[in-house]
Parts: sequence; C-alpha cells; structure tokens
Amino acid sequence: MATDLDRLEPNAQRVQDDLTELSQIHDPASSGWTRTVFSEPYRASREWVRARMADAGLTVHADHAGNLIGVLPGRSAAAPALMTGSHTDTVASGGRFDGMVGVLGSLEVVRQLVENDVRPDHDLLVVDFLGEESNDFGLSCLGSRALAGALTQEHLDRRDHHGVRLGDRYASFGLDPSDVLRAAGRFGPRGLHRYVELHIEQGPVLEERGAGIGVVTAIAGIRRLLATFTGRPDHAGTMPMGDRRDALVAAADAVLAVRQEGCGAPVHGVATTSRLDAEPGSPNVVPGLVRMQAEMRSVDVDWLSAAQVRLTEEIARKAAEHGVDVDLTWSLDNDCLPASPDVHEVVSSVADSLGIAWEAVPSGATHDAVHIARLCPMGMIFVPSRGGRSHCPDEWTDLDDIVTGIRVHGATLLALDRAR
Ligand code: GLV
Ligand code: MN
Ligand code: MN
Repeated sequence: MATDLDRLEPNAQRVQDDLTELSQIHDPASSGWTRTVFSEPYRASREWVRARMADAGLTVHADHAGNLIGVLPGRSAAAPALMTGSHTDTVASGGRFDGMVGVLGSLEVVRQLVENDVRPDHDLLVVDFLGEESNDFGLSCLGSRALAGALTQEHLDRRDHHGVRLGDRYASFGLDPSDVLRAAGRFGPRGLHRYVELHIEQGPVLEERGAGIGVVTAIAGIRRLLATFTGRPDHAGTMPMGDRRDALVAAADAVLAVRQEGCGAPVHGVATTSRLDAEPGSPNVVPGLVRMQAEMRSVDVDWLSAAQVRLTEEIARKAAEHGVDVDLTWSLDNDCLPASPDVHEVVSSVADSLGIAWEAVPSGATHDAVHIARLCPMGMIFVPSRGGRSHCPDEWTDLDDIVTGIRVHGATLLALDRAR
C-alpha cells in the first residue's frame, strides 16, 4: 500500500526550519507562542504560510471565509478533490505544534510529491483553516465551519466580553462577513473525495503506550455553558454570613459540580470551568454578580446529554441554597463525530505496511476535521505529545515523531488518492 512513499522520505531539517520560523511569528506582548485569530501576528504568519505554500509548488488563494487554500492539480480533470490541512492560530499562551504540524507536514508531503514527480489523480488541497481555536466568542473552527456551511448569522452576531460582534472582527481583519456566510462549498467545482488531518495528540496515550502514531476513532462533542449568578451586593464587613446572597459562593459550588461531572464519566468525558468574572470586584463588597464559562466534552453522547441535565439541576439547587438566582445558557460547539471507518482502515494499513506501531485513540480536542466531515469521509493521524501537554508554551513533539507522522500522512494521502 505504501509503495510510492517508500521512495519519499520527509526532509527533517526542512520541517524543523519551517516549525522554527513559523513559531517566531508570535505576539511579543503575550507569553508562550501566541498567535490568536484576527491578531496582527496571525495576519503576518499567514503571509508567511501563503509564501511557503507557493514555494512548495501549490497555487494559493484565500477563500471568502479566510481559509488559505493551496492546490496541487491532479491528473484527472473530473475527480473530486482530496483535502488535507489544519490551522496555524494558537490559543493565548499556546504552543508551537498544535495545528502547525498538520499544515507544515502537509507542505512537506507536497514537496516530496513535486520533487519525485508523483502526481495524484485528484487535486490535492492543503488548507490552513482560519481560526480553529475557540475564541472570545466561544466558537471554534471558524474557517472549516464556514466552508462546511455551518457558520450562521447567529454566530456572526455573537459578542465578546467587550461587546464586539464576531462579524465586526471579521470586517476588521479584511473579510466581508456576508461573504463569509457564502463560503460554503467553495473549494472547487467537483466536491471532495476524502479529508485527512495530521495533528499532535495533545494527550498522554501515545507516549504512554509507545505508539508511533494514533489513528483517531472519533472527535469529542463539546457543550459550552455560560452561567450568570445574580445575588446581592452588600458590605463585606457588616453583612452577617448567614444573611448573604453571595454570587461567587454559588459559582464556586458550580465549579466543583462541573469538576465532579468530569470525574464521573465512565468512558471518556471531561469538564472544565475556564472563566469566572465577579462584580463589583471590590475587596469590601460581597459579590452580587458572577459570569462563569465552562464546557464538557465526550465521545459518549449519552453521557454528555445526561451530564448536562444533572449539572443544570445541581447548579440551580446549590444556587438556591445560597439565595442566588442563576441563568444557564448551553450551546453546542460541535457534536461528537466518529471518524470514517474507511479512512481509519487506510491509515492503520499504511502504518502497518510502514512498520509503525499505532493505537486507536479518541480525540478530546476538537479539530477542523469535525466540520469537513459534513462534506466527505474524514480521518485523523495523531503524533505523540510529550507528557500529554498542549495549549501551553511547553507543548512539545519530537522531530522524529513528527517525521514519522508525515511519512504516514503522505502514504495515506496517496492511498486515499487511489481509493474509489
Ligand atoms: C482546540 O484545540 C479545542 O479542542 O478546543
Ligand atoms: Mn489544533
Ligand atoms: Mn488547540
């Protein structure tokens, strides 16, 4: 299955140089390797990505949704396109590998194909999707969501903590928000054949089991919670403890309830509170208002639904004990999505034929693949993350592991190219 790619060996130095150069374009005012969506460092980095795509031999354009798309034309004029890609934005104080490995690894595959005169049947599209990381609007995967037709006016009307609309953030980045809504399906006239994405695992399983790569079974669903606790502001020195309606104490109980749900998941489930804003925030005032942001993730939809019901009841019950009103707004970032069994089979067979140990793993992180799966069968290839760390400056994957992932990725793309 991997015959063509037996001849094609990724150039490790070139991959290392690309990773280093891209990581140097980051926000100097922030810790880590920050390059958040819509920021100036992100704008600059995408110019760099565009140039690297062109150097690799791709014809590059940016679509209406701000995705950078590099095309390697295939031999068959009638065939749908084979797509790969990932993202180059980071979370605040993020790392150098999450997303970058998929974009730069795909470019290395393209260079190998071009240098060895291997031309796929299908057009090969390498996409740097706009803004994959969840942002101040509580929404991840902006570019792939738009491409798949799942970005809506309601999303564009969402406001961040400063009251700025998502649509206006697009406009200040030079993208017309009404065009963004029209980006769906504009990746070429003949539809998509398959999608496969190379990514770091962002968890500990592959390292623990000594596996070279992970073959993703499913991507977790994400339910987000915005809770507003309304108590009563009072003098912190005079109001007796038993007479208070302290919004922050009610929120603290909610934080523990969220954690408890995550700890109780039978298969795969996690729950995180990531933000609490208390008002008025004075040292001598009992907090009267708290806004809280949390999320739950799982590949087990039944658990996710049941946990949402339990958590809603528990937070309301505890808040009532503290005399605090609570408003809970749940939203879905993405549904849980299984990878295509066909693509899974191709990736695992390629790994077997290359003699690379692999593990089947679920993804607790979300990915652009979850949205592209609306358009064609999708799969993902993971490479190990040291200590399972990610979304932090210490995120790390050894170059050897990245190169192994690129070998599997390249061979998988060629195998998918041949698949009917
Ligand atoms: C992105 O990495 C996410 O899982 O939210
Ligand atoms: Mn990512
Ligand atoms: Mn991420």
